[in-house]
Amino acid sequence: MDAVCWRTTDQERLERFARAGSIPVINTLSDLEHPCQVLADLFTLRERFGRRRWPSVAFIGDGGSNVAHSWLLAAAKLGMDFRLASPAGYAPRPRAWLLATVEKRKTGAKLLLTSDPEKAVRGADVLYTDVWVSMGQEAEHKKRMVRFRRYQINARLLAKALPRALVMHCLPAHRGEEITDEVMDGKRSIVFDQAENRLYNAQAALLWCCKGGRA
Ligand code: NVA
Repeated sequence: MDAVCWRTTDQERLERFARAGSIPVINTLSDLEHPCQVLADLFTLRERFGRRRWPSVAFIGDGGSNVAHSWLLAAAKLGMDFRLASPAGYAPRPRAWLLATVEKRKTGAKLLLTSDPEKAVRGADVLYTDVWVSMGQEAEHKKRMVRFRRYQINARLLAKALPRALVMHCLPAHRGEEITDEVMDGKRSIVFDQAENRLYNAQAALLWCCKGGRA
């Protein structure tokens, strides 16, 4: 094989596997990170907002999810204004927060962790969400439905962001839970462009790795 793309749960095991071999290993989702998703998200934002500036992004939902962690790291590295609103007990894991803090010192990124979704979306260019129950957390479904109720992206929350604010979701969505139909299918949703861009960015990442690129 020339490369391995691995979608798994255990990040540590994935890292051990990558260290043991000599070919590129791409994390296509683990419990800690989802870097290929965020690569496609950043590409989608470039398409929408141009190259002059990164928009401010408010992530509403599970701060301990793989997508939230990768967003936190990307925003810190790129010097972005990134806000994360999650219920108490669902903040990012210490490892992700620590790495982000180190990057933030170099880039001057503005990172806000809060439990208040309205505070996070105020003045934000982009609202982002992910499922409330990630792969492997199915047993926590009932508890999470209650804890995350206030963290839905709906018309009321969208109205608190900038009038031009756009909405993203990494898909698959659980409509009626973390996002309403009205918002997902509305004019300000760029969810389907974002999904399309996953393909081109996955191709680009694979090509880059096979040509000797190192993350
Ligand atoms: N956080 C979600 C991402 C799905 C693309 C999960 O792990 O299920």
